[in-house]
Amino acid sequence: MPRAIQITAYGGPEQLKLVDMPVGEPGPGETRIRHHACGLNFIDVYQRTGLYNNPLPLTLGMEGAGVVEAVGEGVAHLRVGDRAAYASNPPGSYSEARVMPAQAVVKLPDSIAFDTAAGMMLKGLTAQYLLKKTLPVQGLQPGDFVLFHAAAGGVGLIACQWAKALGLQLIGTAGGPAKCQLALEHGAAHVIDYQRESFVDRVKAITQGQGVKVVYDSIGKDTFEGSLNCLRPFGLLACFGNASGPVPAFAPGILATKGSLYLTRQTLFTHIATREATQAMADELFAVVQSGAVKIRIDQRYALADVGQAHRDLEARKTTGSTVLTP
Ligand SMILES: NC(=O)c1ccc[n+]([C@@H]2O[C@H](COP(=O)([O-])OP(=O)(O)OC[C@H]3O[C@@H](n4cnc5c(N)ncnc54)[C@H](OP(=O)(O)O)[C@@H]3O)[C@@H](O)[C@H]2O)c1
Repeated sequence: MPRAIQITAYGGPEQLKLVDMPVGEPGPGETRIRHHACGLNFIDVYQRTGLYNNPLPLTLGMEGAGVVEAVGEGVAHLRVGDRAAYASNPPGSYSEARVMPAQAVVKLPDSIAFDTAAGMMLKGLTAQYLLKKTLPVQGLQPGDFVLFHAAAGGVGLIACQWAKALGLQLIGTAGGPAKCQLALEHGAAHVIDYQRESFVDRVKAITQGQGVKVVYDSIGKDTFEGSLNCLRPFGLLACFGNASGPVPAFAPGILATKGSLYLTRQTLFTHIATREATQAMADELFAVVQSGAVKIRIDQRYALADVGQAHRDLEARKTTGSTVLTP
């Protein structure tokens, strides 16, 4: 019987239990994947704690790579034996095998290893839609400054490299000198240790008082106001996560007084809502990885059964780059 990690109640990492999980045949539009590697993402923490709600019991995990074992009626783009990868709702990748909607699953090029794929699908597609589709009204041109928080994390290190390839000057924040150094080595033009210095003051200094055109903010509560203060007039705050907790309610008037700013809260799942969009975005991600412009760093590996420790390390800010779980 395949095994999976299940929670039956929201809470801490102790809720993550290894259980036997029967896996049936795929229905119409579905596929069954045997995982070779699964990705760890911060969204898994939000789902474990209940910040993001799902019906219980729940197998977590939004990212995986493996081999197609079966396809249901109407699935034309996958065949049994294909190497495949995905970032997708519903959760369920913390498992040896699963049945899931096939529309989210793409064939994996032979040159990309399963663990690399598991470390890049959700994070890489996110970096892509942020840097290429989540843009200020004036757009982004080579040489422009953007601010990217948690630049040494999973999404962050991919974004540093991709921004450099696009000619952008990415100012990355990270907690501590080692993480700052890592972001620099991966293409950040400037780094700020936001545990030791004011990132608002540093951004002002780096941009000679101008501010940046976009802030990509996945930290949430702790950085929200400072991020607004880093923007040029008409700049865009692109919120996409809450690692420090959700942003509390605020009055929209604050956007006027700080320079007619724009605010958006993005999620990958809107961008990959159709098979065509998913395939187009994945093709672009595969191309940038195959070209060598973006390298996927897997800095932590855990057995699937040890996922509780992986969550503890992620929440304690001990990880850098991507983390892969091996079933
Ligand atoms: N909306 C979307 O489409 C989407 C998609 C993917 C990811 N995300 C979001 O993007 C962020 C990055 O995801 P990831 O999986 O790659 O994680 P990650 O960046 O590898 O890990 C999160 C990082 O956030 C920083 N952080 C700051 N305050 C924190 C706190 N109070 N607790 C924990 N960490 C804190 C830490 O880096 P420092 O020590 O350097 O501060 C930590 O390493 C997450 O917020 C995630 O939810 C959103």
